[in-house]
Amino acid sequence: MTIRYLLGHEPKSVEPSSPTETVLDHLRLACHRTGTKEGCAEGDCGACTVVLGELDGDQLRYRAVNSCIQFVGSLDGKQLMTVEDLRQPDGSLHPVQQAMVEAHGSQCGFCTPGIVMSLFAQYRNGADWNAAAMADALAGNLCRCTGYGPVLKAAQLALKERRADAFDVRKEETIAALQSIAARDDTLNYFAPRSAPELAEIYAAHPQATLVAGGTDVGLWVTKQHRQLAPVIALSNVADLQEIVETPTHLTIGAGVTYADLLPAMAPLWPDFAEVIRRLGSAQIRNVATIGGNIANGSPIGDGPPCLIALGATLVLRAGKTHRALPLEDFFIAYGKQDRQAGEFVEAVHVPKPQAGWSFRAYKISKRFDQDISALLGAFHVKIENGVVVDLRIAFGGMAAVPKRALRTEAALRGKPWSEASIAAAIPMLVEDYQPITDMRASAAYRAKVAGNLLRKCYLETSDAEDTTRVTFAGRRGHG
Ligand SMILES: Cc1cc2nc3c(=O)[nH]c(=O)nc-3n(C[C@H](O)[C@H](O)[C@H](O)COP(=O)(O)OP(=O)(O)OC[C@H]3O[C@@H](n4cnc5c(N)ncnc54)[C@H](O)[C@@H]3O)c2cc1C
Ligand code: FES
Ligand code: FES
Repeated sequence: MTIRYLLGHEPKSVEPSSPTETVLDHLRLACHRTGTKEGCAEGDCGACTVVLGELDGDQLRYRAVNSCIQFVGSLDGKQLMTVEDLRQPDGSLHPVQQAMVEAHGSQCGFCTPGIVMSLFAQYRNGADWNAAAMADALAGNLCRCTGYGPVLKAAQLALKERRADAFDVRKEETIAALQSIAARDDTLNYFAPRSAPELAEIYAAHPQATLVAGGTDVGLWVTKQHRQLAPVIALSNVADLQEIVETPTHLTIGAGVTYADLLPAMAPLWPDFAEVIRRLGSAQIRNVATIGGNIANGSPIGDGPPCLIALGATLVLRAGKTHRALPLEDFFIAYGKQDRQAGEFVEAVHVPKPQAGWSFRAYKISKRFDQDISALLGAFHVKIENGVVVDLRIAFGGMAAVPKRALRTEAALRGKPWSEASIAAAIPMLVEDYQPITDMRASAAYRAKVAGNLLRKCYLETSDAEDTTRVTFAGRRGHG
């Protein structure tokens, strides 16, 4: 298995020690680049943030990622930039580093390389200064000493007075270099297919292989559970899994579409789902985490599935040349058990577009507003005509062993007036639909209480009652 990439501007050809060697280990142990730090080793703190540059047509785009849970295979054909690359040819600091100095954005400095790299990704992508967007971009970088005021000030300084950096000067050279290294070399342990048919063929031949899309779940199996995984099939280069196709009635979202790429496509159609996506993990997580991985992991607390179930999404599964479509709610059978055969993978998700008369609301409840897993997530899709509930779909995450529809609650509301009295009568049905558990995120009693409150919140926001609880998408901070 040979991985070819650019480390800064230097071409590299490396043989990882295993298919699951992390980029962070590779940097610190093999490349002796110790500027990138390890904090949590699970994608939470951002100390290990590096930036990946990749071709997007004939342009370059940059993504901040957590090197602690990315495997070296994910570097294939890309440019990897660490804090060591930011020094300018004349020895001066990069503008984002200089701004951190001027704004007093660093004290102990453990978090600083990661923060600088998150800012650098924004700088390279030409982001304009916007306080809310920058808070989102930095939500995956924990800093315990300085606090975020000076860091945001640094971001403002750097983005407002942009000047060409060494990466601008060498842009054409970088594009040419990336075009020339996009070769690949499969071995018995590691496969990196480029198309869905190729993936189908390889997976059919190696049904015991672990699929790795963004690796934001799989990475933790390695760093936290010390699992040895082989063979691995990397999905990040499967081009046709990364497409979003819009038809008059649907969005068809390839399983390999990252949440960062899905967010702008979802925002005009389903703003509440977009707001959930904005709070899913951090920028570093959303830059690699895929919708397919969020579904296929079968987690009871994944944020995408309850929204998608309430919207009436359909899953497309593929094994070899055979495709089958499945309502998403039927995919989740029991904890850790999904309706997926050996050698079968998630190819796409069909999501209906808005229809007249229907309203959609989704609410994520977590202890921390940003970068936190949901204690519960309620998604409500309701069709009201003349004040009566004609149809509805309610789904919750965090209330059962799988993401699940609230069929009894739905039945209690269908055909009833959309009124406070109907809501009050339906709320007790939620504990018939779900038997929530107590864990470190919330008690069963809290979950049951909040689930009912969210149903009422949905009613308040979609009826004529005064709307005082609304959180909208637009980069605005809300109260969750
Ligand atoms: C710090 C951190 C914060 C997080 N925050 C959130 C959060 O707020 N909300 C949330 O929902 N999740 C969160 N997650 C979990 C994770 O990021 C998401 O579930 C993500 O969408 C997984 O996608 P991935 O591409 O990284 O999956 P991977 O890790 O690559 O894969 C996950 C699972 O799906 C399988 N798989 C992947 N693609 C396919 C496919 N096409 N077909 C079949 N199987 C497939 C893999 O084999 C594996 O079993 C967080 C994770 C971390 C580390
Ligand atoms: S070390 Fe904490 S996010 Fe990677
Ligand atoms: S400066 Fe100390 S953690 Fe950020």
